[in-house]
Formats: sequence, C-alpha cells, structure tokens
Amino acid sequence: MNVLLIGSGGREHALAWKISASPILDMLFCAPGNPGIGQLATCVGIDVSDHAAIAGFCRENHIDLVIVGPEAPLVAGLADDLVAKGVRVFGPTARAAQLEGSKAFTKELCDRFDIPTAAYARFNNAVKAKAYVRQKGAPIVVKADGLAAGKGVTVASTVGEACVAIEECFEGAFGQAGAEVIVEECLVGEEASFFCLCDGNLAVPLTSAQDHKRVGEGDTGPNTGGMGAYSPASVMTPEITERVMKEIVEPTMDGMRALGAPFTGILYAGLMLTGEGPKLIEYNVRFGDPECQVLMPRMQDDFLLLASAAADGVLGNDPLRWSDEAAATVVMAAEGYPAAPRTGTAISGVSEAETYGAIVFHAGTAMKDGNLVASGGRVLNVTALGKTVTSACHTAYAAIDRIEWPHGFYRRDIGWREIEREKAQ
Ligand code: AMP
Ligand code: GLY
Repeated sequence: MNVLLIGSGGREHALAWKISASPILDMLFCAPGNPGIGQLATCVGIDVSDHAAIAGFCRENHIDLVIVGPEAPLVAGLADDLVAKGVRVFGPTARAAQLEGSKAFTKELCDRFDIPTAAYARFNNAVKAKAYVRQKGAPIVVKADGLAAGKGVTVASTVGEACVAIEECFEGAFGQAGAEVIVEECLVGEEASFFCLCDGNLAVPLTSAQDHKRVGEGDTGPNTGGMGAYSPASVMTPEITERVMKEIVEPTMDGMRALGAPFTGILYAGLMLTGEGPKLIEYNVRFGDPECQVLMPRMQDDFLLLASAAADGVLGNDPLRWSDEAAATVVMAAEGYPAAPRTGTAISGVSEAETYGAIVFHAGTAMKDGNLVASGGRVLNVTALGKTVTSACHTAYAAIDRIEWPHGFYRRDIGWREIEREKAQ
C-alpha cells in the first residue's frame, strides 16, 4: 500500500514510525513532513491547503490511503475533496470535523443526545455574555467557538478575568473563531485523554493518556499544546472506560450518523473525571500531540491495517492489543515558547539519546547547512517505554541528558501524578 501522511509535527513522526513498520506498506510519503519523518518517508513540499494539488499527487503516485494528522485540513474539507476525487482517506469529513471545529456544534450534540458535559450558554455579543458571567459567578470558563490553536479557552478564577476574556474574543483576538463565545460551568476533577478509532458506525477504544498542558513545572504558567504525556493513565479504569464508551462515545457516533455526518478517523475525547462521573470537556478529531507519541510505541496492532479498514467502514469489533509497558514522552521546547519561541538554534546529540533507549520524535525541527536546528515552539519529543510510568520517564530524562541544545527547555516533572500513584502502591 502507498500512503500519504499529512502533517509535520511530533504526532506525525510517531505515526510515520508506526506506519513504516507495517508489512502492508510499500511507499510512505509525507506532506510536508520534517527531518525526523524524512528518515522514514519521502517528504513532499506540497501546500496542504491546496486540495487539488494533493489529489493530483495521489493520482500520480498511486496513493492508496491518505492519513491526516492535524485538525485544520480536516476542518477545511481535505477529506471531502479527496474522497470526491476517488482517494481513500482516514479522517473525518468537514461536517464530522465540526466536533472539533465548532464548540457550539459539539455542545448542541451533547444537549440533543444527552451526553454529559459542562452546562453552558452561547453568546454573539459581549454585553450579554458578561451579564451571564456576573449572574453565574466564578470560577467559570470562556471559550472562543472556533479553532484557535488551543489558545481560545480561559479558565477564569474571577468574574473580572472572565469579562476580559470575553472582550478579547469579541475584539478579534482569535479572528473569526471568536465571533461566538461559549461560557460554561467550571468542571472539577482530573483530566484524561481518551481515543477511539472510528469507521463511521463503530468506535473501537484505543487507550488512555494524560498530557501536561501548562508550560511550567507543577502545571503552572500559560497553556501550551502539551509539554509531555504518558500512557496508560490509571485513572481511566475499565469501569470508567466503559462509562465513557456508553455515555459519551457511542451516543456521539449514533448522533453523528443521525445528523448525516458519520464520524471516521480518530475521535479524541478530552474528559474531566468529576465526582458525578466522566464528562466531556471537548472533542478533537485527530490524535493528541504529544499523546500520539506515547500511544504508537504501545500499540501492538498494525495501525495501517486498522486505518485502512476504518476508511472503508469495515473495522472489526476485536479489542486492540497494547504493550504492558508504559510510555512517556517529554517535550523539548524552544526558549520563549509558547509566547515567542526562538528558532534557528542548533541541536545535537539526538542519535546519542536514541542509543540510550529513547525514541526521539521530531516536531519543529529543520536542517540548516547540514545541522539540525529548531524551527518551531515544540521541537523534540523524547519518548521511552518502561515497566512503569516512573521508569519510562526515567529513561526519557536520561536520554535527554545526551541532547545538547542550550536554547531549549523541558519540564522535569512529566508524569508526576502517575509517579505519585505508583509510589503509593
Ligand atoms: P480545551 O481547548 O477545550 O481542551 O480547553 C483547554 C483546557 O481548559 C482543558 O484541557 C481544561 O484544562 C480546561 N477546561 C476547558 N473547559 C473546562 C471546563 N468546563 N471546566 C474546567 N476546565 C476546563
Ligand atoms: N495534547 C493536546 C492536544 O493535542 O490537543
């Protein structure tokens, strides 16, 4: 099978790593890819927003399956445009991708199909939104409706903070994404990420992970795309997993079908495990980044075979197999991230880190004059397996010590919740 993977981050490097081990793979291409992915696939510089160019590439290179990593091309209708040209795609249509592309869409779906989530109200002007916040009091959560690259959410601890967030949204801080604002109840509990592989009808659970969204140790400082992750997350017990499937994922799959927008691809449920049970914080329509980097090393099945079956709507019901080992990934970011990451700084020691037992997935890297340099905010994902999360983290950090990158930084406490739980056992 010839495969075109879309994307350029650590998530796509982890996917390329897994796909390239598949016995059914012939050629792997990646658009646009990165230097790490380039060791496993042929990177092609096509503009991902030019859907006709991607379809043309697929025709010329006899691509049998396109696997889309990030959400933006899905929300922009890449899957629809490729399928219309006869190209098989693993990833949702634009209508189904509204589960991530529009928070209001997902909230309405939850209302209609009784899916547990935070109570909310929608607003298209600041005056009414602020009046609602004053009536409800703090803490309270303010969200821009559309895609805002993970930056459109404010968990406000005071009414004043919530009002500032509302004003920012309507003043255009998130462009069109902030034209509508959702104000919702602040849920209390532990967060977990849960993933399912979906073929339009059926959702097969993958496994759980937890990420660390804040930039600083002790989960402090601004939100990021994620500074590290581990899998499995023991808070996602079999009982909670079953509830999540029955109360959240299955009604979503049924609801999407009823709306004429069946969901195919990876459904990523961001959950809050509250005292009343699991509640949906948000959906994403793709793998998490960096969660994918800890899922792929633990997956024992052939992801390419599964993605291909899902694209054809013929996924089997068999549970997937996962390594008994835990996995952890530590994100190395460029200094200044997330506000203003410094790019162009030199990195060395990646292969030394790999000899030390880690897999180093590339995110924002580039080659400059034969040297590896940082080209984005999140740059490397140093990933390791171990008997426990504690030992996986230990190996990842020992490998990081081999990497020389004076202008990079990372959190030293990835996995802390799980490590504390493991200590207490
Ligand atoms: P989102 O982009 O919707 O995932 O939100 C980013 C982060 O904001 C989540 O990972 C949560 O930590 C937090 N968050 C979002 N919605 C809520 C909520 N209703 N209650 C508490 N925290 C929330
Ligand atoms: N790690 C969070 C996300 O991928 O959205």
